[in-house]
Amino acid sequence: MKFPVEARLKDGTPVRLVLADRQDVEPLRRLYRVIVEEGTSYPHDRVPDNEEFLEYWFRGKSTVAAYLWDRVGEPDMLGAFYLKPNWPGRARQVANAGFIVAPKWRNKGLGWLLGATMLEYAKGLGYRSVIFNLVFSENQAARHLWKKLGFSELGVIPGAVRQNDGTYQDAVIMFRSLL
Ligand SMILES: CC(C)(COP(=O)(O)OP(=O)(O)OC[C@H]1O[C@@H](n2cnc3c(N)ncnc32)[C@H](O)[C@@H]1OP(=O)(O)O)[C@@H](O)C(=O)NCCC(=O)NCCS
Repeated sequence: MKFPVEARLKDGTPVRLVLADRQDVEPLRRLYRVIVEEGTSYPHDRVPDNEEFLEYWFRGKSTVAAYLWDRVGEPDMLGAFYLKPNWPGRARQVANAGFIVAPKWRNKGLGWLLGATMLEYAKGLGYRSVIFNLVFSENQAARHLWKKLGFSELGVIPGAVRQNDGTYQDAVIMFRSLL
């Protein structure tokens, strides 16, 4: 898999996917803050501090960021994913990944592009499969997208996620073989 990846969204917008570097830390932090405030897809219930953010998104991970093709490293990051082993040692060939697309860039095919890129990248890195541990059951866009990319739903974790109103929603575990 070679980066940068250049592609067009459904509406023709040209984008560039790059392997994340120091310049991408602040734009990604800004984007992740929006996702945490939405509160509908990731477990964080407050914006993580610097250490936790770096640990979650960068350390020991392959992180990829999407920008408008001529705006790489500028504040307006369109989306990103991280890729890492889900477990150590004998199970390290099962990958885990996390995705975000900025609200105003959704439903233009960027999630699909990031997902397809992750699958090819993961295969090239020697992973044998990918697992998503905690897809919020009400996150229909994500469940639809992952099924479209060949994932199946392995099971449900009942009441895994506390919502703002104090009630709980289920989470789904999704899996795709790369063999
Ligand atoms: C999930 C996410 C990454 C998708 O990104 P995206 O750029 O909008 O993805 P795409 O445009 O490639 O595809 C979205 C698909 O979901 C569909 N969709 C959107 N909202 C939907 C809904 N409420 N119910 C069902 N399908 C929906 C779209 O129609 C599209 O499918 P199609 O291409 O077959 O028409 C994005 O919504 C996001 O960042 N959400 C917040 C973070 C998140 O949920 N991350 C994943 C955690 S598992």
